[in-house]
Amino acid sequence: MACHLQLLLPDVYLNAASKLVDSDFVRAANKESGILKTMPKAIHFEGRPVWAEISLKAILHNLRVIRRHVGAQRKILAVVKSNAYGLGAVPISKALQKAGTEWFGVTCANEGIELREAGIRKRILVLTGFWPGEEKRLIRNQLTPTVSRVDDLQHIERAAKSMRGKSRGKSSRVPFHLKINTGMNRLGISPDEIDAFCLALADCPHIRLEGTYTHFASAEDFTAEQTAVQEQLFRDCLDRMRALGVSPGIVHMANSGAICARPSTWGDMVRPGAILYGYHQSFDPPQKKQEVMCAMPLEPCLSLRARIISLREVPAGQAVGYGARFVTSRPSRIAVINAGYADGIVRARTNRGWALVRGRRVPLVGTISMDLTMLDVTDAPDAKIGDVITIYGKDGQASIEVSEVAREIGTVTSDLLCALGRRVPKFYL
Ligand SMILES: Cc1ncc(COP(=O)(O)O)c(C=O)c1O
Repeated sequence: MACHLQLLLPDVYLNAASKLVDSDFVRAANKESGILKTMPKAIHFEGRPVWAEISLKAILHNLRVIRRHVGAQRKILAVVKSNAYGLGAVPISKALQKAGTEWFGVTCANEGIELREAGIRKRILVLTGFWPGEEKRLIRNQLTPTVSRVDDLQHIERAAKSMRGKSRGKSSRVPFHLKINTGMNRLGISPDEIDAFCLALADCPHIRLEGTYTHFASAEDFTAEQTAVQEQLFRDCLDRMRALGVSPGIVHMANSGAICARPSTWGDMVRPGAILYGYHQSFDPPQKKQEVMCAMPLEPCLSLRARIISLREVPAGQAVGYGARFVTSRPSRIAVINAGYADGIVRARTNRGWALVRGRRVPLVGTISMDLTMLDVTDAPDAKIGDVITIYGKDGQASIEVSEVAREIGTVTSDLLCALGRRVPKFYL
C-alpha cells in the first residue's frame, strides 16, 4: 500500500509560534500514524518548514554505476564545483572520498580550500583556471591549477619557484593540467598554440604537466557531428604534443553525456557531474535516453519538501498571487507552502507543473513568489495544514524528478539544482 507524507499539525502550532516546529508532538504523530515511511529517516528541525533531503546513498550508488560503466582502470573526477551543484560540496565530497573517488573538480581556489579545510585529501583540480595572484594559494593548498592560456605557465612557474621547498618536497614540481579548446570556444588554449605551449613549458623547471583535457559542448547530441569533431581535434593536439616530446599525462574529456554514451572519449579519467547526482540529461534523438537509462540506472539524490502553512477556500473567478496570473475556474482550495524562488522553486514554474501531496499530483498555481508558492488542492480534499508537499522526490508511488521539471521549463537539471536556496536546511541521508 502506498504511504504518503503527511503531518497532522494543529493550528495552535502555527498560531503560537507563527512557525511550524517539529516537536515531540509531531514526532509522536509521525510514529503513531506510520507516516513518513518513504523518508529514510524522519527529519526534525525547528523553523520554517522547507527542507532538502540529499541521499548520499544514491550518490554512492551512482558512483558505482559510473565506475562499472567506464571500467575500474579509469579514474573518476567528481565534479563538485558550485557547492556540488548546490547540494553541499563538503558532505558529498567526504562520502565520495571515503568511497575511493580519486579526484575532485572545483571552480576556483576558494571552493578547493573549503574542501581541504573539511579534510578532503584527494587530488583537487581547479577547472576554471586561476586569476593572476591566486597561484600561491593554489599551491599552498595542493590544488591543481588548470592552464588555459599559454601565459598562465609563467604565472604558476614563478609562484612554484618562489615557494620551492616551502610546502613541497624540494625536488617535486607543481603539477598542473592543460585545457585545450576544441570547439566550445570558452576556455583553453587553441590547437594552433600547442607548439607555443610546448616551447614555453620547456622554460618552466618548477612545474609539471600532469594531465591534458578538453570539454564538450554538446555530448548528448547524436544528431550533429560537433562532439566527434572536438574529439578528433583533441586527439590531433595530443599527437602533436607527443611529437614535440611532451607527454600529455592523464587524458580526460568526458562529462556526463559522454560518459553515458561515448566510450571512445573515456580516456584515462572521466568527469561526471549531473549523473553523479542521479540525473540523466536529455539526449538527441530522445530515444537515446532510454538506451542510456538502461545501461546506467541512476538514483536521483534530491528531495525538496515543504509543508502546507495555509489553506483557503477561494470562490470561482478569483485571482491568486502576484499579477493575478491564475484565476480560479471553479470553487477551489488553495494551499500555500513556505517555499518560493529563493528556496529553489524557480519562477519559470509560475502556473506550470506539479507537486505531490499524499501521493497525488497537484498543480502549482499563480506566480511563484520569493518565499511562497500556491497549489490547487481542490482535487486532494484530504490535504491539511502541516501536510508535507514534495516539490522534487518521491511520495508513495508518485515522484517528480528535477530532470523532468528541467525538461518542462526548457532548462537543464544542473540549473535547477543550483537554484536550491542557501537558507534551505539540507539533510544528508
Ligand atoms: C570541465 C568540466 N568537466 C565536467 C563537467 C561536468 O559536467 P556534467 O554535469 O555535464 O557531467 C563540467 C560541468 O560544467 C565542467 O565544466
